[in-house]
Amino acid sequence: MDKLFITGGAGFIGSAFVSLALAEFPRCQITNFDALTYAGNLDNLEGIGEHRHRFVRGDIADRDAVLAALGTETDALINFAAESHVDRSIASADEFLRTNINGTQVLLDAGRARGVRRFVQVSTDEVMGSLPEDENAFFTEDSPFAPNSPYAASKAAAEHLVRAARHTFGLDTVITRCGNNYGPRQFPEKFLPLMLSNALGDETIPVYGDGLNVRDWIYVEDHCRAILLALLEGRAGETYNIGARNERRNLEVVESVLRALDKPSSLIKFVKDRPGHDRRYAINPSKVETELGWRPRETWESGLQKTIRWYADHPRWIERARNGDYRDYYAQHYGAL
Ligand code: NAD
Ligand code: TYD
Repeated sequence: MDKLFITGGAGFIGSAFVSLALAEFPRCQITNFDALTYAGNLDNLEGIGEHRHRFVRGDIADRDAVLAALGTETDALINFAAESHVDRSIASADEFLRTNINGTQVLLDAGRARGVRRFVQVSTDEVMGSLPEDENAFFTEDSPFAPNSPYAASKAAAEHLVRAARHTFGLDTVITRCGNNYGPRQFPEKFLPLMLSNALGDETIPVYGDGLNVRDWIYVEDHCRAILLALLEGRAGETYNIGARNERRNLEVVESVLRALDKPSSLIKFVKDRPGHDRRYAINPSKVETELGWRPRETWESGLQKTIRWYADHPRWIERARNGDYRDYYAQHYGAL
């Protein structure tokens, strides 16, 4: 698995994966195919030389562009590219269907046409919907699909297409499903980087509803290590749920960040709830632990500390991410807070 074709490698998780794969595997060569949407950022690839990394700007829904960039010697295609923000999918689902569904099908077809040995689809626990607050309920690989947002529905559709490519054409596929990632370089529309950037600037932190929704948080590099293992050792046709057994209520996350930055809780502002807001996500990661021997390296405390330090040390990255488009989105979505 030396020649990797990675889509969405200028985004938050994809860029962390590119760095990790290059560092861990000295023979690895990467083609990084990314459309550079508002969420794609070449700053995320700073410091990655051109020696074993080739960046190609392109759209995964553009068949000719994908075929041209893929070549005939790719060992594995790992699909990170997606529209990834639930709130944006509620405002308008079009791009989610185009990229997450049509784009995935284009990649599956192209992978088959070019003889790619393995196709990894990076998916999300959100395809399984929302869990009750009962502490004994967890997502497993056998949980039924029950996507609740247009984003989750588009990712579920993509999983079905991957499954169909395996079943009908015998393509070697692996699906990974992860919970909420946190770490450096996450676009500040997502909750943790939004609250961090706002808190650092003494701005209000918008909390949806009662703030008691539960998410299962994982440090981004731990997620990427699990994807590497699934790529190298996962069984064809299987799905692996990836989670660090780290459930937190949203308010608990905000309070930890405010405490670490020594900021007052008066910055918290409760705002109107997200329509259809999933109450709880919680992953049972037994399969990836026992089959692939994966364990997270970071605790919540160590991962959060690293993340907070990174945002505090990178005001210019935050500023550049919050460009004109971002400000328009923020004003439209949150109004005056
Ligand atoms: P992100 O929004 O930060 O990055 C997405 C990347 O995909 C960007 O670089 C963007 O330019 C690129 N992209 C978007 N549309 C494209 C297109 N049509 N063609 C080519 N490139 C395109 O997302 P992320 O948080 O890094 O998530 C990566 C993957 O992981 C996604 O598939 C997402 O569904 C999945 N995932 C994310 C999380 C999370 O907590 N962030 C959790 C579970 C699964
Ligand atoms: P988000 O980062 O959008 O991820 P997801 O919805 O995919 O889990 O949101 C994480 C949690 O934080 C979710 O319960 C919604 C909540 N949230 C807020 O309370 N305020 C915000 O401004 C945002 C963006 C999210």
